[in-house]
Amino acid sequence: PSKAFPHTLPGQHVYHGVLFFGFSPPETLDAVRDFQVKSDDVFVVTYPKAGTTWMQEIVWLLLHDADFSKAASSPVYMRSPFLEFKDETLKEVGLDIAEAMPSPRVIKTHLPRKLMPGEIFEKKPKVIVLFRNPKDVCCSYYNFYKSSSSFGDFQGDWPQFLEMFMEGQVDHGSWFDFTKSWWPMREASNFRFVFYEAMKENLLDEIKQLAAFLGKTDLSPETLSKVADHCSFESMKANPMTNHEDVYSIDSSVSPLLRKGTVGDWKNYFTVQQSEEFDQRYKQEMCDLLPAIPFQF
Ligand code: A3P
Repeated sequence: PSKAFPHTLPGQHVYHGVLFFGFSPPETLDAVRDFQVKSDDVFVVTYPKAGTTWMQEIVWLLLHDADFSKAASSPVYMRSPFLEFKDETLKEVGLDIAEAMPSPRVIKTHLPRKLMPGEIFEKKPKVIVLFRNPKDVCCSYYNFYKSSSSFGDFQGDWPQFLEMFMEGQVDHGSWFDFTKSWWPMREASNFRFVFYEAMKENLLDEIKQLAAFLGKTDLSPETLSKVADHCSFESMKANPMTNHEDVYSIDSSVSPLLRKGTVGDWKNYFTVQQSEEFDQRYKQEMCDLLPAIPFQF
């Protein structure tokens, strides 16, 4: 049964209780569940705005022996397909790109666990789950909604968006549900959980750990440093292969995909009352997750 979604925007639909827009139509979401997984695939699993693009670029470079010239030859969204995304105008159909692509594939998805390809639990590919403080996610998402034509031409203000976010009435549904669905996998040996805040704190160290997780122990410290430099906020913002400025559905003059790239921007958006309400809701929703997620609000 679908939940009631009062802030209805044109083009939204609900699939197994999760809200989506037209670029993830029901047929695509059905096909995703039957997607053929390969054991050497690497999945980058995130809730939107957690730093997905950042992680895709890092993982792609690590798996392709830091081939910077190849990384410069096509946008990250073509090298690392977005599984449940279908946009004919952009010639970007995630499933088709993934199926045509040689291994090792770096596959992006924002799906909660229950909507993933069934084979992910049989073939046991490596899965990187990236989390970010949900208050920062919410601010980033608000700006993305403003700049993108994909979300029913959202014209609302911050309080409205915050309410939508808290109720899971945004593309890909509830942050709480997404997080609760994946958290139990944190100890599985083919999973690695990463935090945006830790990447901001020490990118090179996180990259080293990811290289080890991916079995890329042959990459030299110099190469890993070059990957970190290539993936700094400034470099990725200036790089047309990562900044998404060519994507017709994003108006970068309203808000670019690489907007601020900081920790704690939420303090510029949440009032004290909104923050307290969020904290309360967070505690209610997340109280059963042990050990607790180490976000410091
Ligand atoms: P902000 O809107 O807070 O700036 P996604 O790729 O999941 O859509 O996430 C986009 C968010 O990740 C944006 O956050 C963007 O700036 C941030 N981001 C992308 N690349 C980054 C990088 N190299 N360093 C830090 N943040 C980055």
